[in-house]
Amino acid sequence: MSGVSRGSWSGQVGFVLAAAGSAIGLGNIWRFPFATSQNGGGAFVLVYIAAVVLVGMPILISEVLIGRSAQRNPVGAFRALAPASAWPLVGMLGVSAGFVILSYYAVVAGWAFNYLVAAAGGRLTAPTTAGAQRVFDSLTGSAGRQIFWEAVFMVTTIVVVARGVEAGIERASKILMPLLFAFLLVLLGYALTSPRAGEGLEFFLRPRFSELGWGGVLSALGQAFFSLSLGMGAMITYGSYLEQEHSVVKAAGLIVTMDTAIAILAGLVIFPLVFTYGLDPSAAGPGLVFVILPEAFVRMPASGFLATLFFALLLFAALTSAISLLEVVVAYLIDELDWSRATSSWGAGLVIFALGIPSALSGSFLGWADWIASELMLPIGGLFIAVFVAWILPATTVRSEYEGASGAIRGFRAWRFCVRFVAPVAVAVILLQKIGMF
Ligand code: TRP
Repeated sequence: MSGVSRGSWSGQVGFVLAAAGSAIGLGNIWRFPFATSQNGGGAFVLVYIAAVVLVGMPILISEVLIGRSAQRNPVGAFRALAPASAWPLVGMLGVSAGFVILSYYAVVAGWAFNYLVAAAGGRLTAPTTAGAQRVFDSLTGSAGRQIFWEAVFMVTTIVVVARGVEAGIERASKILMPLLFAFLLVLLGYALTSPRAGEGLEFFLRPRFSELGWGGVLSALGQAFFSLSLGMGAMITYGSYLEQEHSVVKAAGLIVTMDTAIAILAGLVIFPLVFTYGLDPSAAGPGLVFVILPEAFVRMPASGFLATLFFALLLFAALTSAISLLEVVVAYLIDELDWSRATSSWGAGLVIFALGIPSALSGSFLGWADWIASELMLPIGGLFIAVFVAWILPATTVRSEYEGASGAIRGFRAWRFCVRFVAPVAVAVILLQKIGMF
């Protein structure tokens, strides 16, 4: 155990920024719109919001509590809090999920890198939607270009993580998030005044439950886990660098609010443009935002500049998320195997890079890895995390951790009800329904 060199946040603000940096990423801007488009629109959004409030927020608080009270990586945290039990396996599931998610996440972030460089070089100028689609298809059809940008992105992530908690993650998280938010607001103005905005809003906001099905409900739940970085111990790890005196509840509320606002904002931007540019939302796959947004920029003044700025911000958001994914694995290697931070970062990062190559070679492999992680590993991990905090940890420990040093116990009973009953039952029922158990 390397208690001395673990490091900690400079305070509540540092933690909130870093955790929000983890949550806000490709999940909000790439994954949320395309998951919505494939699951019937408005009904998906409603179930997603319910999942965020009733399952996501309670589990976020649970993860931070586990991490802060154990001050360890996910595996070590379960071992410390439940010695001689099988609970560390939940941590192992989380560390494995980190490998899976980051492997394809780096490929998608590599797309953003490619678009950034193309935009900066003034080469992102396809004048029609079909042309924008061809640009995307040619990128995803090229193994070489994808692997190259995947490598560039992974090396960037590794370098930041290797430098350590304070120096790397926190400073990086402080700067560009508000700018991303502001940029989306500007795009929102443009999208809402586009010719077929009404149809887009209707698709995004009007619930049609008949199109959802249990598959759609599971996707919405998985999207909530993915977007909030839950179910694999990322927030256990970040919570482990948090000190006692801070209020977990307030921090969690802020993180959830910011993350959800960015996702909804992305949807409000994308769907009016999808209809205006004549795309079929249910047919558009993972390329959705990579086709729609460049197409929108082409029609704006200073399009090259705007596209460059946007993809730079998207890439930054992806980087702060990727950092948290790698950090879970690295914290495990440092705490449990006594590796140095540099060896852990480069070792794990290069393995993850190699694991991502199949996703660069095949879009269906990428989709499969995404499905395994977000619709199986994360919900199952989250289920166990909720059960652990609600039923295994001694009630007095839970209560005093929830209070922290601040003595504030706001929302404790509602939270406890959600982690004891609502979250585990909802996740279990949805998973079992999906595999046809009922
Ligand atoms: N939440 C990030 C996003 O929306 C992705 C991410 C980072 C993540 N860390 C995670 C997802 C941990 C699941 C678990 O892009």
